[in-house]
Amino acid sequence: MSFEISISNVVQGLEPSATLTMSAKAKEIKSSGKTVYDLSLGEPDFVTPQHICNAAVEAMKAGHTKYTIASGIPELKKAVAEKYKSDYGLDYNTNQIVVSNGAKHSIHNVFFTTINAGDEVIIPAPYWVSYAELVKLSGGVPVIVQTEESNNFKMTAEQFEKNITPKTKMLLLCSPSNPTGVIYSKSELETIAEIVVRKNLFVMADEIYDKLVYGDNKFVSFPTLRSGLQERTIIINGVSKTYAMTGWRVGWTFSPVNVAKKMGELQSQETSNPCSISQYAALEALTGQQNCVTEMLVAFSERRDYVAKRISEIDGLSCPEMGGAFYAFFNIKKHLGRKIGGVVIDNSEKFCLELLMQKQVATVMGSAFGCEGYVRASFAANLEILKNAYDRIADFIGDK
Ligand SMILES: Cc1ncc(COP(=O)(O)O)c(C=O)c1O
Repeated sequence: MSFEISISNVVQGLEPSATLTMSAKAKEIKSSGKTVYDLSLGEPDFVTPQHICNAAVEAMKAGHTKYTIASGIPELKKAVAEKYKSDYGLDYNTNQIVVSNGAKHSIHNVFFTTINAGDEVIIPAPYWVSYAELVKLSGGVPVIVQTEESNNFKMTAEQFEKNITPKTKMLLLCSPSNPTGVIYSKSELETIAEIVVRKNLFVMADEIYDKLVYGDNKFVSFPTLRSGLQERTIIINGVSKTYAMTGWRVGWTFSPVNVAKKMGELQSQETSNPCSISQYAALEALTGQQNCVTEMLVAFSERRDYVAKRISEIDGLSCPEMGGAFYAFFNIKKHLGRKIGGVVIDNSEKFCLELLMQKQVATVMGSAFGCEGYVRASFAANLEILKNAYDRIADFIGDK
């Protein structure tokens, strides 16, 4: 008799990460010998700066290869606190910081620690792929608020208020945004903060792209907006994007002490500490020279300008100004319903699949971010790759 282990209801309902799925498809095509222009992943193409790698080697030599405190080494927590103090003037004690296996893990810890079954979490769409799934995994209910391209994909005060119910517990904010690259201004955030306080909510502010901001745009850390917000905010940040350290898996939270204590305990049962060697590398990233951040920012900024120009030149495509992060989120609605390469493109998923199959350019469908009719293309790739990719996107769209 054959036997199959059944999957839990919770995990059965989980959507796989669309960005990782598209990237896996791209790798499959690559392995068949074709060149693929991969704009699907949110990952800097730079290698981790040498001084950070050296610190990891030194950490190993010094014997930092054992379990650490589950919530992270004190030196790293201190460096994390000092960075937010010097960058944004915010005061946090080390007992308010939990270091985890990447910011994605930090986000999971936050939901798991603060959400009860049925609690509602407001998530402006388009949103980063993992938010809604992680809320569901914690028993919460994601309440998706659809924003408009005409308002630069920002949630308005009216939209926010309209979606608040007695069950609303948390608002999730991501600025600069993945997938749109849009940044909320200080005054827009002040309006949101006023509602948060008046309605007695708390905010998870995902500030992972705080250092990737272009032109005249300014990043504002949410709790700096008014007094009393620090106790209502859990900040997410980490080294993945700023220091090209996606594989090292180090992220962290700033939160009120009671939440940090419980997240640390949760982590002590779930994963124990994040990799000891990676923690020492992250310590060097935060406390060592910061020229590497500036150098990468200059390159990203040049690519952003290039991509904005290319998108504006392709028939029917548009996207809001990319103030930060490294994504273009462009509108493809004009081309939905058309036949391209003999195939009817009826939605963004079909667009991305056919673009990959026909032109070997990997992107991610807007539907994965809760926003049909759009495509996300990362510009964390060098100018030559971007040129080839956008030439091919133009060709694909130009197909008669
Ligand atoms: C908005 C946002 N938050 C969090 C993360 C997770 O980052 P990490 O690599 O530290 O888990 C990502 C990564 O793509 C992201 O785009």
